[in-house]
Amino acid sequence: MRGLYCTWKVFAASKNPIQAAARRLLRSINMDTVAIAKEHPDISQIRNPYNQPNEAFTEEKLVSKDPIKQFERWLKEAADHSLDDVNAMTLATVDASGRPSARIVLLKGYGKDGFIFFTNHNSRKGKELSENPHVALVFFWGFQHRSIRIEGKAEKISEEESENYFKTRPKPSQIAAHVSASQSSPIPNRDYITNRDRELREKYQDKEVPKPEYWGGYLVKPEAIEFWQGQTTRMHDRIRFRKITDDNKSNDTYLTEGENGWFYERLQP
Ligand SMILES: Cc1cc2nc3c(=O)[nH]c(=O)nc-3n(C[C@H](O)[C@H](O)[C@H](O)COP(=O)(O)O)c2cc1C
Repeated sequence: MRGLYCTWKVFAASKNPIQAAARRLLRSINMDTVAIAKEHPDISQIRNPYNQPNEAFTEEKLVSKDPIKQFERWLKEAADHSLDDVNAMTLATVDASGRPSARIVLLKGYGKDGFIFFTNHNSRKGKELSENPHVALVFFWGFQHRSIRIEGKAEKISEEESENYFKTRPKPSQIAAHVSASQSSPIPNRDYITNRDRELREKYQDKEVPKPEYWGGYLVKPEAIEFWQGQTTRMHDRIRFRKITDDNKSNDTYLTEGENGWFYERLQP
């Protein structure tokens, strides 16, 4: 330590122009580097341990060869582990020109027909869905080193089903659906929505809030569902289920028949 200190003292006092320039550079970087390091840890070195080889997600560990049942098990296990928005999922949509966009929405129902979320049909995602119904969903449960990817087509659920769900929402959320009538459109400032919120709270003080006609649910009908379980060695487990159609019949060398019309295969990590 003392040796290091002496070396620094010599370097700090040196009149050598190169060392002086290096000193100036170090001094200028130093403060910034410290500030950056505090605010932004070296993300290139963040590495979480995942599962060990003896905890591999093998085909025998599938609770069912129907991916909806497997999804149910993993969602339940995530919910047992954490209450922190385990039903949050990334929803990716694509616009008419082929450009993707993604955001988080909450899964509000699922079953053999697919996965349901609610939103404003006038929003950016709503407009993109009307132009192109193909979507991708991604769940990530980091605390279990698990992720589920779903690909399929979204379609609006019935008005009656959307109505039924809307009635179960807390009143402030119902009002928020009216405040955000043109969700995703620019507004002048925050007052714009807080004023509108106040007006509507007064209006509906003693009345039921009706579901706006532009608000409702989408059902994502899955064509592929992949289960990913992380391994520390990066020999991750990936088991993908898919429905076989004329378009994706090829490349089925390792495909095994599952249940309820699903087939599954293991993918390279
Ligand atoms: C945890 C979380 C849950 C969300 N849930 C929903 C939801 O269920 N429906 C929704 O429309 N937006 C939800 N949002 C907001 C969306 O991410 C997004 O900001 C909004 O829908 C507008 O997206 P768009 O402009 O791409 O249409 C949620 C955001 C987060 C972070």
